[in-house]
Amino acid sequence: MLHQEMEKEKHLEGVFSFSLYRNNLSGKFFHSGREDEGLIGLIAARSKNNVIGKDGRIPWRIKGEQKLFRELTTGNTVIMGRKSYEEIGHSLPNRQNIVVSRTKKFEGENLVTAASLQEALALAKGPDIYIAGGYGLYREAIPYVDVMYITEVDLTVEDGDVFFPEFAETDFDVTAGESGGDEIRFTRTTYTRKEAKAHESCAAGADQDLSGPEQKVRR
Ligand SMILES: NC(=O)c1ccc[n+]([C@@H]2O[C@H](COP(=O)([O-])OP(=O)(O)OC[C@H]3O[C@@H](n4cnc5c(N)ncnc54)[C@H](OP(=O)(O)O)[C@@H]3O)[C@@H](O)[C@H]2O)c1
Repeated sequence: MLHQEMEKEKHLEGVFSFSLYRNNLSGKFFHSGREDEGLIGLIAARSKNNVIGKDGRIPWRIKGEQKLFRELTTGNTVIMGRKSYEEIGHSLPNRQNIVVSRTKKFEGENLVTAASLQEALALAKGPDIYIAGGYGLYREAIPYVDVMYITEVDLTVEDGDVFFPEFAETDFDVTAGESGGDEIRFTRTTYTRKEAKAHESCAAGADQDLSGPEQKVRR
């Protein structure tokens, strides 16, 4: 077999097994008619010292920083933890909102609640799915995401209390994109998974409860 063909076959095999794993994780993808499955992405903004939240809020306001979030998630599905949803205070328009919570139910137009990430993925209509934080959902989802859009904010936040989880950067190709902001600058960074994987190393994390504050890490 030609080298090129072998490479292609290897690639397809990788994509196929990743897809199967995703089906296992969500339980429903395989049977839900999502043949045109979109990507699973993650979207976050973090400070230089890895802070994503402080006192229940995002500790910066930068004009234009939220634009990418809006562009990516509109027309797709956004999955967020209960505290992140409560910070926003309402469902985001023109996209499916899934709140992950074991204690509360949020229902409405384009708004549902799931008791776990797995359930959220099963409820997701897509086509693309974006994990929008906070810490526990990011940590649980990273092994399964195809791509992470992380905005690196040029700021050091003192006393932050929620951090972006540690992850294996070597699993991703990293591309720095556009910069923006006035007083506080930011750079868009895209982490694209090097190859379809998400098998062995991830399975262990799937059942863990990672939503507790003790799991939060500093960079
Ligand atoms: N910079 C950014 O990009 C960004 C993005 C998002 C959020 N944030 C910030 O991060 C902070 C909030 O994050 P957080 O980590 O504290 O809270 P969070 O993830 O938004 O919410 C935590 C809650 O979500 C539910 N939850 C999370 N994972 C779950 C799971 N696997 N299964 C079931 N339920 C789960 C639980 O709700 P119940 O207790 O109801 O069961 C948990 O208490 C805020 O400061 C927010 O502003 C920043």
